[in-house]
Amino acid sequence: MPVITFASSKGGPGKTTAAGCLASFWAKQGHSVAIIDADSTRALSRWHGRAKEQGTAFGDLTAIECTDDEAILDTVRSAVASHDYVLVDCAGAAARLLVYASGAADVVIIPAQPGEADLVEAIKTAKIVRQARDLTGRNIACRVFLNRIDPRTHVGQHAMAQAKSQGLPLFETTWADRVAYREGQYSGSTPVLDDPSSPAAREVADLAQELDDCITADSHAVSQQRISAGVQ
Ligand SMILES: Nc1ncnc2c1ncn2[C@@H]1O[C@H](COP(=O)(O)OP(=O)(O)O)[C@@H](O)[C@H]1O
Ligand SMILES: [Mg+2]
Repeated sequence: MPVITFASSKGGPGKTTAAGCLASFWAKQGHSVAIIDADSTRALSRWHGRAKEQGTAFGDLTAIECTDDEAILDTVRSAVASHDYVLVDCAGAAARLLVYASGAADVVIIPAQPGEADLVEAIKTAKIVRQARDLTGRNIACRVFLNRIDPRTHVGQHAMAQAKSQGLPLFETTWADRVAYREGQYSGSTPVLDDPSSPAAREVADLAQELDDCITADSHAVSQQRISAGVQ
C-alpha cells in the first residue's frame, strides 16, 4: 500500500513519465515499489528494462505487466501485499481497465498539459474516477497534475484557473517542460537519479510529498476500506 493510479483518457500528458520518476524517487528513499504497466505500449516496462541494462536500476523496484481487465484487480492486490507503494500506469483511453485501476486506487493522478483540449480530457477522466468511487464506495482521492508548463508564458495560470472553475482538484506542484524528463526515456534514468539538486528533481520530490500528504490524510479511511474489502 498505497495504490496510486496514473490516468487519462488520452495519450501523452505524462502518465508514464510521472510514474517512472515517482517510482525511482520512492525506491531511492528505500521503499519497496511495484510499477504495474497496464498499457500495451509497454513504455514503463521498456524504461525499467533500460534502467536494468544500463545499471541505473536500484533499490527494490519491481515492474509487472498487466493489460488484462480481468486480472488487474488481483495483480494490484498481490502487489499491495508485498510493496510500500504500488503505481499503476494506464493506457491513454477511457477503457474498462481505467475504471478498475481507479477503483483499486487510493489516489488517482490525472496528468494534463496546459491546454483547453487537455483540460477537457482531464475533466472526462475525473468523471470516470468519480464513477469508480460511486461503484466501489471507496474514498478515492483524485487530482489533476499540470505537466509541461512553459514558465515563460501565462498558459499554466490559465489552465489552473480553467481547472478551478470546473471544480477540478489540482496538485499544487506543476512540472515545467524540461529535457531532463525526456532524456530519462532513453537512459532508463530519472532527474532524481541524474542530479538530485536539479530543478526537475525538486519538482519530482514536491509531487511525491504532495502525494504522501494526500495518502496520510486518507490513511485511516483507506485502511478501514481495505479491511472490509479483504485486502491486507
Ligand atoms: N515535464 C516534461 N517535460 C518534457 N517532456 C515531458 C514532460 N513530461 C512528459 N514529457 C514527454 O512527453 C512525452 C509523453 O509523455 P508520457 O509520459 O509518455 O505520456 P503518457 O504516458 O501520458 O502517454 C514523452 O516523450 C515524455 O518524455
Ligand atoms: Mg504512457
